[in-house]
Amino acid sequence: MAGRFITLEGIDGAGKSTHLAWLVEYLRAQGKTVIQTREPGGTPLSERLRELLLSEPMHLETEALLMFAARREHLERVIWPALERGEWVVCDRFTDASFAYQGGGRGLADEKLALLERWVQGDFAPDLTLLFDLPIELAAQRMQGAARALDRFERETLDFHARVRAAYLARAAAHPARIRIIDASCSIEEIQKQLEEIISSV
Ligand code: ADP
Ligand code: TYD
Repeated sequence: MAGRFITLEGIDGAGKSTHLAWLVEYLRAQGKTVIQTREPGGTPLSERLRELLLSEPMHLETEALLMFAARREHLERVIWPALERGEWVVCDRFTDASFAYQGGGRGLADEKLALLERWVQGDFAPDLTLLFDLPIELAAQRMQGAARALDRFERETLDFHARVRAAYLARAAAHPARIRIIDASCSIEEIQKQLEEIISSV
């Protein structure tokens, strides 16, 4: 059986981390070998870039370039080798996040992001992307309840998160076969049901 590359996306506080853990266990229970990873991050170097990206103020283009630099390393050392071994890779965020955050949120032109995308990954794309969608106010409420320090992106304004959400939805409209929208305002049990149905069709 060939491996699959599944990514989870959504605004901060949408519930990705909560459901990623469940999804990985669900796939393992079906006998699949699954690697759980995240972006920015997933290799020692990319995790160091993540620390900088989440804490250090920087120019918008520097931010985009570092996101893609971390991604190049992650693809080469983790994602592509695992897929070649026939394993499944479940990744917390990938290139759609660059279009949503650096593009929608910060206003970097889509053409520049598309250029980086092509340079770093060619035609490679996830087999399936789960987009956790919910109103920004609800996501903000959930983050406040989470009781941990917020990073540089999570501290952004509601307007910023509204632009990120809109960019994600535009991306889903442009790639309807790959990106499936999950109604993340539902209960955890209802979301798991939505995920089971979608995964059974991959
Ligand atoms: P993300 O990784 O997308 O930022 P998390 O998974 O960390 O989001 O979820 C943010 C907070 O919301 C956590 O405290 C989590 O327990 C809670 N949460 C996640 N999904 C739901 C849900 N469907 N209903 C209610 N609370 C949720
Ligand atoms: P996130 O994945 O939400 O981790 P956690 O759930 O532990 O907070 O944090 C990563 C942040 O990085 C998130 O706010 C979005 C941002 N990001 C980008 O801006 N561009 C990207 O290309 C990626 C992968 C992430």
